[in-house]
This record gives sequence, structure tokens and C-alpha cells, in this order.
Amino acid sequence: MTQATKTHRITLIPGDGIGPEVSSAVISILEAAGAATGVAFEWHRYDAGADSFEKTGEYIPQALYDSIGENRVALKGPVTTPIGEGFASINVTLRQKFELFANFRPVKNLPGLKTRYPGLDLIIVRENMEDLYAGLEHVVVPGVVQALKIITEKGSTRIAKFAFDYARKHDRKKVHAIHKANIMKLSDGLFLRCCRTVAEGFPEVEYREHIVDNTCMQLVMNPFQYDILLTENLYGDILSDLCSAFVGGLGLVPGANLGTECAIFEAVHGSAPDIAGKDMANPTALLQSAVLMLHHINESPTAERVQAGLEQVFREGKTLTKDVGGTSGTKAFAEAVLKAMESPTVHA
Ligand code: NAI
Repeated sequence: MTQATKTHRITLIPGDGIGPEVSSAVISILEAAGAATGVAFEWHRYDAGADSFEKTGEYIPQALYDSIGENRVALKGPVTTPIGEGFASINVTLRQKFELFANFRPVKNLPGLKTRYPGLDLIIVRENMEDLYAGLEHVVVPGVVQALKIITEKGSTRIAKFAFDYARKHDRKKVHAIHKANIMKLSDGLFLRCCRTVAEGFPEVEYREHIVDNTCMQLVMNPFQYDILLTENLYGDILSDLCSAFVGGLGLVPGANLGTECAIFEAVHGSAPDIAGKDMANPTALLQSAVLMLHHINESPTAERVQAGLEQVFREGKTLTKDVGGTSGTKAFAEAVLKAMESPTVHA
């Protein structure tokens, strides 16, 4: 085993529901991969949401804000948000606080896993701070509620720039702006105008526009026609779950919330209360989010070791969780990845 040469301080929010189970599986894999590649981690662990409120009286403790501000990188499990009442979403609050304007969600098939669309590889780039998720709602008169959809030139331009920059850097061919500007002529109209202006600076990337409802149909009929989906916040949230189903479901798809100063890596899925505490959750989505994080902190050999181990387990198909057709639990799956990383066929 190689001696650790570099230590990364990372804020860890295990989350609730299945969060602690998937986080603990992921940490064990990262520790092993790090030990083998000369990388160590110092985890700064915090609760958020209802668990934190019980212990500290705060949904997001100040110490958690401070930790993310100092470390600039966080790995986050899902946190339950009460429906139709209660405290504001922890995710949305953190994204606003640290100006994590870009939500990056690669949707890619894993080897060996049978899906409806083998070989699919698309990316959702979702604006992460504006739109109806700004959380500006009020009662106009009893029985009438107004929610404000915020779309700005600044926010739309920077997310479009992010998508096109990514396409240029990674040789992706096409960007589709997804909108509903036929109905929301001013807000989605502004979003589209910004996308068009940015697109002009990237003539090598094909630029197209699709209306969001048509996009849902087009995606199910033929998702291969898309490469990068560039969307506002709400459409991106919905399309992410839809697209996750193309590659095996929510247990698989990773995500990154990116800003200019900080980044928080988390799966697309939520806290899955229906399977929490049952050793049933698939940790792959958070593990692949951690792989994105490792690349982000310039530890690509460690990232590649983890990804190779994960892919080996999927290729063998013997130790998979129930959501992807297997019979194994979260812990057994993590053990299989640990073992696969030791295998001579997996190269760091
Ligand atoms: P969900 O994503 O938690 O679950 C939807 C379905 O997918 C469930 O059947 C669940 O069992 C399954 N699933 C999700 N992740 C899985 C995994 N890793 N392995 C196997 N199966 C998995 O969505 P739901 O039920 O709508 O939301 C539950 C809670 O999570 C809500 O309070 C919601 O606000 C919150 N949430 C939090 C997010 C976050 O913290 N980033 C993101 C999305 C939702």
C-alpha cells in the first residue's frame, strides 16, 4: 500500500433516510482507494435538516456553513424536505448561500447493466439558483397563492456559458436549450435569448432549442438525439429523474453543484424513506458523485480506481442491489467494490 502523501479536508453531510447508509459505503471505498493511490481524507462531518435541528436548534448549523466556506468542497447525502410545509430545502439553501449556480448531472450507462438504451451518454446542465426555486411564494388573498419565477440575464448567461465551455473542453457536439418560451414569453424568452447569444461564440457546437414537454416525449422515443441538455432549474430537476430511468434509475446518477468558489457533490436521488435503514439503498449514485469530486480536487488516479472497481462489479453483475435487479444489500455491494479495486484487472 502506498503511503498517503496528500490530505484533503472535505465537509461531509451524510444526510438522512438512506443518506447515512450510502455515505458510509462511499467513505469506506474512498478511504481504500485513497490509501492505494497516496491520497488521504479528513472528513468534517455535519448533520443538516431535521436531525441537525433536534441537536442544535438550527437546520443548517453555522459550523457547517463555516466548514464548506473553508474546505470549499463537500460531499452530501440526501436530506428530507417536508412536503407542503416546514423548513426550506437544505439543498436549495446551500446552493443559494454558496452561489452554486451550475448543477451538472451526467447520465451514462454502466457496463454490464441491461437498460433500454445501451450506450447512452448525455449530460444535464441545470441552472441551480433561480426560477421557481427562488422560493418566493405568498398568499395574495385567501385561496390565491403566487409563486415568483425569477430568470435573470446574468444567471441564464452564466449557465449557458458553463454548458458551452464544457462542450468545447470535452468535445461534446450538441447543446439543446430546453424551455417553455411559447407560454412564458418573457422569462423563458430571456433564458433563450441568453442561450442564443452564448451559442454564437461556440460555432463548433451545434445549438438547438426544444420545448420542455416535447423534450419529454423525444427523450423517451430517442434519447440519443441529445448530448447536453441546458435547462432552467425546475425543468432540469424533473428531466434529471426522467433521464435517470434510462440508465437504471435514481440509484445510479451522480451530480455536482458547482460555483466559482465552492462545490457540493451529491446524488440526484432523495432520502428514499421507503427503503431507509433496510440495507437496500444503492450507493452508486453517491459513489459516482464522489468520483466527480475526486476529479474536481485533481485526484484523478483515485477517481479512476474507484470508477474501475465500480464498473467491474457491474460488469460481473453478481453483487448488485435490488433496484438494478440484484439481491445484495448496500454493505455487500460496497464490499464487492472494495474487492474489485484490489483485483489485478482494475488499474489505478
Ligand atoms: P427519492 O429520490 O428519495 O426516491 C424516489 C424512488 O427512488 C424511491 O422509490 C426510492 O426508494 C428510490 N431510490 C432513490 N434513491 C435510491 C437509491 N440510492 N437506491 C435505491 N433506490 C433509490 O425521491 P422522493 O421519495 O420523492 O423524496 C424523498 C425525500 O428526499 C423528500 O423529502 C425530498 O424532498 C428529498 N429529496 C432530497 C434531495 C437531496 O437531498 N438532494 C433530492 C431529491 C429529493
